[in-house]
Amino acid sequence: MQKEKIDIESLKKLQWKIMQNVAAGAIIPLMRIGDELGIFQKLAEFGPCTVQKLSKVTNIDVRYCTEWLHAMCAANYCSYNTTLTKFHLSPEQKAVFAEEDSPALMIGAYDVLSGNVHNIEKVKEAFQTGEGVPYSESHPCIFQGTARFFRPSYSSNLIQKWLPKLTGATDILENGGRFADIGCGFGLSTLMIAEAFPKAHITGFDIHEPSIVSAKKHAMDADLNDRISYYVSDAKSYSGEFDLLAFFDCLHDMGDPIGAANYAYEHLSNDGYIILIEPTAADHPADNLNTIGQMYYSFSTMGCVPTSKSQEVGLALGAQAGPKKLLNILEAAGFKNAKVVYKNATNMVIEAQK
Ligand SMILES: C[S@@+](CC[C@H](N)C(=O)[O-])C[C@H]1O[C@@H](n2cnc3c(N)ncnc32)[C@H](O)[C@@H]1O
Repeated sequence: MQKEKIDIESLKKLQWKIMQNVAAGAIIPLMRIGDELGIFQKLAEFGPCTVQKLSKVTNIDVRYCTEWLHAMCAANYCSYNTTLTKFHLSPEQKAVFAEEDSPALMIGAYDVLSGNVHNIEKVKEAFQTGEGVPYSESHPCIFQGTARFFRPSYSSNLIQKWLPKLTGATDILENGGRFADIGCGFGLSTLMIAEAFPKAHITGFDIHEPSIVSAKKHAMDADLNDRISYYVSDAKSYSGEFDLLAFFDCLHDMGDPIGAANYAYEHLSNDGYIILIEPTAADHPADNLNTIGQMYYSFSTMGCVPTSKSQEVGLALGAQAGPKKLLNILEAAGFKNAKVVYKNATNMVIEAQK
């Protein structure tokens, strides 16, 4: 067979792109180590500081610490003086790596990335069998990473930008309405609603028991445990009636999203609403072939599709389903006036009326 001719310029461009991606991937384990050993926190606290000082306050070996710092500086994830003898985090680097409550925090992404690497064997097998992998079988990094990765977006958007776009949501919650967070995970979205609307009645449900245990702990730490009820429950088996039912970044993970939406329909009051927060995507995959698409399709291959395939129906919508499929699901479940009410680079907000 005759070999196809390689265009040298295209090859070089592709190789440089791969080199950038490899460099970004190479730092993943260092980010987890820096996060778990509190190196970012101590740099934020004690910087500008020498390697010796940082090693001492973090209780780590000087040689490893030096190599780690050089990798961080090369990535521009850490700041340094001209002689590379003192290191610190700029205000922006602190906000993304060291301040857990910051709306700019991004370190949680590395929990998810590490968790996906741990999950390779299970998902590889699923590629061959076509079966799913239950969410509960993911590496624990995935559970905490999901919560940490999504929280900044929720804390800067949910109350300020998303709720005001939803028909009557703010009024319902201010007037003591009943809100349920389905697939609530660690319940950080649930907490934000409870904090902002003291009269609202708030419930969180999730199929994954350890996540509900964490959600209860977060509510306890925030002194909101008497205002929120959490239950381990599938999206098709909880009880109660609600005025607002929300699915934060989870409908596409479910095996039977139409069944879950229909169950929500049955558990809404007569003038109630369903709310979906979903990853931003266009309807046609060709329009998602960009940096955000690279990230979401990758996360989806390793997490959303295997989770959905492990459940009844196993529709496997994927994280980049796009608005058309999601609106069709809501309509098939009986809802009316389904529409996208807000969209930014990473999230879409959808509502539909009973
Ligand atoms: C990507 S996480 C999102 C968690 C949370 N809503 C958030 O935004 O941080 C998806 C969540 O959906 C839950 N989930 C998946 N399938 C479910 C089902 N059939 N019923 C209830 N929860 C489900 C998982 O356990 C997981 O906590």
